[in-house]
Amino acid sequence: MARPRVLSGIQPTADSFHLGNYLGALRQWVTLQETHDAFYCVVDLHAITVPTEAAALRRRTRVAAAQLFAAGLDPERSTVFVQSHVREHTELAWVLNCLTGMGEAARMTQFKDKSAKFGESAASVGLFTYPILQAADILLYQANSVPVGADQKQHLELTRDLAQRFNHRYGDTFTLPAPHILKEVEKITDLQEPTAKMSKSSSSPAGILDVLEQPGPLRKKVMRAVTDTGSEVVFDEANKPGISNLLRIHSALTGTSIAELVARFDGQGYGTFKKEVAEAVVETFTPIRERTEKLLSDETELDRLLAIGAGRARDVAQRTMVQVRDRVGFLPTS
Ligand code: TYM
Repeated sequence: MARPRVLSGIQPTADSFHLGNYLGALRQWVTLQETHDAFYCVVDLHAITVPTEAAALRRRTRVAAAQLFAAGLDPERSTVFVQSHVREHTELAWVLNCLTGMGEAARMTQFKDKSAKFGESAASVGLFTYPILQAADILLYQANSVPVGADQKQHLELTRDLAQRFNHRYGDTFTLPAPHILKEVEKITDLQEPTAKMSKSSSSPAGILDVLEQPGPLRKKVMRAVTDTGSEVVFDEANKPGISNLLRIHSALTGTSIAELVARFDGQGYGTFKKEVAEAVVETFTPIRERTEKLLSDETELDRLLAIGAGRARDVAQRTMVQVRDRVGFLPTS
């Protein structure tokens, strides 16, 4: 029997992924390649929804792809590709644009947050239709499951709505995708502002742990993470968001349950605990950083792997689009 299909994407908008990306998404991507037919893309078309310099985009797209392989995606088992290499993404996005209501798109909270940052009139139309392109990414591959962090929930709901609307209007075409979100790691928070999501666009770099960062700065950031009043290591999301976040990180990286950690650090204070968290982060990130550097030292090989991924992705995407064009009523090209 065919394996279920999984698809996810990540933006090349920074010089490194961060711990939130890694725990919320990437790590699941690696696990799922064992059981699923896996498609993962670096979403460069999404990256240009905010002002982006060409040289930076080129560099970050390769750095992103290298990190995906370095984190454990196997180019034999997973189809890893760059979104803009498969033209069908923009073509399907157009069709879906025409099925989406203005009000429906305007309700997307990520658009509201980002446009507030740039000022409503400076925000691009691309930023407005961003979630519709994301729906196209997913539906093109008939994905059953989409591993993401909690911040993507609303976009996945829109994707399901659009799939259902298309199927209803034009006949059964798209698989309805389910979000794959792990509760324990769905929202890793900022070390300096532990109630806010760890994010590339966060105000201070001190709050973010980057995958490609050196051990020194990583340790320093963990040791300086904002902690809460008191000195007990206990999990209490409402009153101790800082320590709760560090407990979640420790637990996810070492596989030790939070209850066990709380018992182990009873009476030991924050310092000893933070040191262990820092070591767990350094141990996880160091091999990924080293493999990323190696992959980046041979761009020809990296580009070759991405071309293979794009070829495999295109095969699937083109098959879906033949059906979509016909259902919508576009004449065949020959
Ligand atoms: P992006 O590039 O912002 O983030 C990549 C993935 O990392 C997750 N994530 C987090 N998880 C837990 N805690 C955090 N602090 C944290 N920060 C980020 C995100 O939820 C995401 O899974 N719109 C998507 C990219 C995208 C996509 C797709 C995803 C484009 N097309 C198709 C899935 C399917 C985004 O902005 O991800």
